[in-house]
Amino acid sequence: MTIMSVQCLKYSVTKLLLFALLAHQQFNYIFTANTESVEVPFFFSCQLINDADAYCVPIKNCQIDLKSLNESDLNERRCGPSNENRKNPLVCCETNLVVFSQPKTTTPTSSAKCGVQSIVSNRIIGGETAEEAEFPWLGRILRRDSIGDLIFSCTGTLIHPNVVLTAAHCLESKELVENGELYAVSLGEHETSCSSPDSSCLNNKQTIVVSEYVIHPDYDSNSYNHANDISLIILKNRANITDYVSPICLLEKNANVVEYTVSGWGRTNNESSSVIKKKTVIPPYSWTLCSQKYQSVNVTITKKQICAGGVRGKDTCQGDSGGPLMTLKNGRWYAAGVVSIGVGCGTEGWPGIYINIPNYVDWIKEVIRVKNLL
Ligand code: ARG
Repeated sequence: MTIMSVQCLKYSVTKLLLFALLAHQQFNYIFTANTESVEVPFFFSCQLINDADAYCVPIKNCQIDLKSLNESDLNERRCGPSNENRKNPLVCCETNLVVFSQPKTTTPTSSAKCGVQSIVSNRIIGGETAEEAEFPWLGRILRRDSIGDLIFSCTGTLIHPNVVLTAAHCLESKELVENGELYAVSLGEHETSCSSPDSSCLNNKQTIVVSEYVIHPDYDSNSYNHANDISLIILKNRANITDYVSPICLLEKNANVVEYTVSGWGRTNNESSSVIKKKTVIPPYSWTLCSQKYQSVNVTITKKQICAGGVRGKDTCQGDSGGPLMTLKNGRWYAAGVVSIGVGCGTEGWPGIYINIPNYVDWIKEVIRVKNLL
């Protein structure tokens, strides 16, 4: 296989013809004659007022009628950092208007879609154990201790083929001392004790080594409240997007959420961590009541943190940190928060604290742009 660019997302096509159509486009593509595959750029999805399926793309890749757009329409569509190149800003573009080159048009394929679970039957309603292909964006952050053993330390969320979102406290130096050096993120896992070589759980797993990480510049590890407890791990290789491994969407604007879902391998009532992926549904919790509650233990909750849970027995816990607070909207899953701190776990009246993702989307996109991953 000849790799011309690593900045693209792979999908398969059956016709060689498509390559001919795509070959002159402005993005670089991978094409392999024997596997008949091409790559398309990875775009983040974004939210339009009318909730149409949309991607955040450079304006020249969006076939909107520019003449009919005034300055405020344009600002409303902006989806990248505000200091974005004025001539070619990132705009939120309906998927059917996204073009890779003029005049031939195509849109990112379903494999570039975020927040989609392809083979989940949703049989286990309200149950505790998640299905194998459920929440395919969940990753286990692995550290390597001094004798080479792999230690599961935190959870992460795949938001792009080689970017994993997690909590900043998961990557701070005391973790290095306690659990060893940051090594890899394991994606596509379900039952972690699975070891039989021919079982599907091993086939679906992708362990990808960490290339580097970026901690939010405003995170202070000495703070009680863990404000800005958010970081990004850049993987050495792009994840292969499959039914078991695919990215979640990022919630861009604060939304009125009625219930959140959390999932992971964190501490349970009986075990220090769970061997099987668990899930639970938790309610949002009033920010005002939550901040009063936490103030009683001298923790000041900021406006960039949200509270959820506070229900007996339903909560995230140790090991779930860095994982997503999820919400389902128009058939897609969005990461609304990052698991950060709590007082105990599953205690009535003590909601968990989550970093509010909409406040950090610009930062996340900027890191991805700077790292040249778009
Ligand atoms: N700090 C914990 C971790 O590192 C997560 C705590 C979440 N606690 C809670 N009660 N919601 O895994």
